[in-house]
Amino acid sequence: MNSSITVHYNNQPIYDILLENSYAQLLEELNELGTDNLKICIVSDTNVSKLYLEELIHIVKNHGQAVETFVFEAGEDSKNLDTVYSLYDHLIQAKFDRKDLLIALGGGVVGDLTGYAAATYLRGIGFIQIPTSLLAMVDSSIGGKTGVDFHSYKNMIGAFHQPASVYINLSTLTSLSSNQYNAGLGEIIKHGLIKDANYYQWLKEHNNEIKSREVHVMKEMVYRSCMIKREVVEKDPKELSDRALLNFGHTIGHAVEKLMNFKLLHGECVAIGMAAACYISYKRGYLLKEELEDIITCINSFDLPVKVSGLNPEEIFQATTHDKKMESGKIKFILLSKIGKAFIDTSVTKEEIMDGIQYILTCEDAS
Ligand code: GLY
Repeated sequence: MNSSITVHYNNQPIYDILLENSYAQLLEELNELGTDNLKICIVSDTNVSKLYLEELIHIVKNHGQAVETFVFEAGEDSKNLDTVYSLYDHLIQAKFDRKDLLIALGGGVVGDLTGYAAATYLRGIGFIQIPTSLLAMVDSSIGGKTGVDFHSYKNMIGAFHQPASVYINLSTLTSLSSNQYNAGLGEIIKHGLIKDANYYQWLKEHNNEIKSREVHVMKEMVYRSCMIKREVVEKDPKELSDRALLNFGHTIGHAVEKLMNFKLLHGECVAIGMAAACYISYKRGYLLKEELEDIITCINSFDLPVKVSGLNPEEIFQATTHDKKMESGKIKFILLSKIGKAFIDTSVTKEEIMDGIQYILTCEDAS
């Protein structure tokens, strides 16, 4: 297994995803990117900065540069334009110009927000993703989707802007809370279900090692998920077609996330949304009952929920119609034709979606 994956667009290498066990190689990466004489601003949140910011400041200073930092309050509530305005202010005060660079040190919120600021400040400056959560490593740091929430609408404002590099330090996974770690596993199970039945099988077989965070197993898992994400985003960088397959579980998942006022983590809501989408796939006759049960057992076995209570089914449905995954007024629903193969379906009816919603409100949940 390599420690580096290159992402190409139009057959041109655009950036590398580096899988390391520390930040020791970051200096070399900055050298390779030719960042001498640039100003660098490390953007992080109040949780992650306590753990890794000092170390990163030290590395960037060793590179011979003055370094700015911008730390904002951790959590989805900060993922908005107000935080972006404060970051713009900071960059303007520090006289950042178009050659300068941002480093996003944190999970999905930090990566998406920093990427959006990088995409829009002076019409676009460079940025490096240093994801510290499992979800950010395998999903949000790759593929150039950046953005912020707008009122309660998730990721409603954004831009495609590719990072200059994605630097993954796998050892940061050991400091994640179990909720955060499991939430990342939601996206990882998704990768197996939509693209690779063997990977799904491998995840089930390595349940214990994954849960006990064995380093070599985590590395293989992150590597395989990054390879799947790379394959999808290379073929369809701007989500004009098959990139939408990555939204499997997200239509109902986002609705639940919003109606629960973001009290559940994104990966947990994706797990619930996947259960609903699998139920619809089963009702359509694409999955056998045993396969549906196997998926539910698998999701639960990674301590992720498949069920939500206290929500009104009609409200969940209405929230799905406000999701941005709509096209010409139709919901672009992602279903499984079998385990390891997903497809986009715009013909899923309200009745089918309501069936899926009823399922997640009433199904058996072992967790
Ligand atoms: N997180 C889904 C995507 O990158 O398209």
